[in-house]
Amino acid sequence: MARKKISLIGGGQIGGVLAQLCALRELGDVVLFDIVEGLPQGKMLDIAEVGPVDRYDVNLKGTNSYEDIKGSDVVIVTAGLPRKPGMSRDDLIEVNSKIMTSVAEGIKAYAPESIIIVISNPLDAMVTLCQKITGFPYNRVIGQAGVLDSARFASFIAWELGVSVKDVTAMTLGGHGDDMVPLVRYASVNGIPVTELLEQKYGAEKGKEVMAAMVKRTRGAGGEVVALLKTGSAFYSPASAAISMAEAILKDQKRVLPTCCFLQGEFGVNGFYVGVPAVLGEKGVENIIQFKLDAEEQAMMDKSVAAVKELVGSMK
Ligand code: APR
Repeated sequence: MARKKISLIGGGQIGGVLAQLCALRELGDVVLFDIVEGLPQGKMLDIAEVGPVDRYDVNLKGTNSYEDIKGSDVVIVTAGLPRKPGMSRDDLIEVNSKIMTSVAEGIKAYAPESIIIVISNPLDAMVTLCQKITGFPYNRVIGQAGVLDSARFASFIAWELGVSVKDVTAMTLGGHGDDMVPLVRYASVNGIPVTELLEQKYGAEKGKEVMAAMVKRTRGAGGEVVALLKTGSAFYSPASAAISMAEAILKDQKRVLPTCCFLQGEFGVNGFYVGVPAVLGEKGVENIIQFKLDAEEQAMMDKSVAAVKELVGSMK
């Protein structure tokens, strides 16, 4: 089997962690692209030199030239500004749209067969723009948001219940904003509903309050990190989340991961990128998993989709 190639556009905080994770997991050869001279070259040299210690053997190249991304199987985009305290993701739209436009043109010209995973914010708008400019089929342009939002939700549940994070599954749907939809009904500890465990622990009413607080924290979790860091936004967690998606694609794993996908009628949404569970394999999005939302969940989904529509509309 030919060795896979992963290109990372944006060599900042997330880009650097992405490169290191690709190397540690030997996902393939890695190219790190940035417009800043020396930055991607320095980071890749740094990561490459510790191969003998961490026991990975892949080619790692830092570059300022799009030519080097030729032949990429997967391209992950983090180019763009991160937010600072007090900013919402949506505040980044103007500056990051310009950056995304040039990045998408570069990918279109040099890696036309690749599958693109967008991380840059505001996510739902940036992935929409990336697809428009590349003209790639929808299954090959997706966004990372749900894997991380879901992991945050699962972490809060595990910490609250005093159980291992490994045994909690939880999922969020919708846009990557304050109106995202953490699915309370399906959160479980090895299949046991979290709502039931909270009721046992606290009684019905307080159990619901504790869950509501975790939902609220999940929605604001990115901002919580920004407020602490002060100089930028989360970078370890978005990198890990995107790598799980890239790995599912590169290894054709058919994993079911919450993914920002282009919807054509699913969940009652037509013509917009929104987070939903998707089967990820060698073709990118291979299937969108649909299921019935109850009235409350549907109302939250509608609100989140409305926010996405407004955000995307503001780009034109
Ligand atoms: N082409 C390529 N890279 C660019 C371009 C461009 N046109 N413009 C800026 N960059 C690079 C910057 O030089 C910088 O190295 O993008 C990188 C962004 O890195 P950071 O500022 O460290 O931001 P990071 O924390 O990695 O977040 C990147 O992901 O989660 C989102 O909100 C976050 O939009 C932000 C993005």
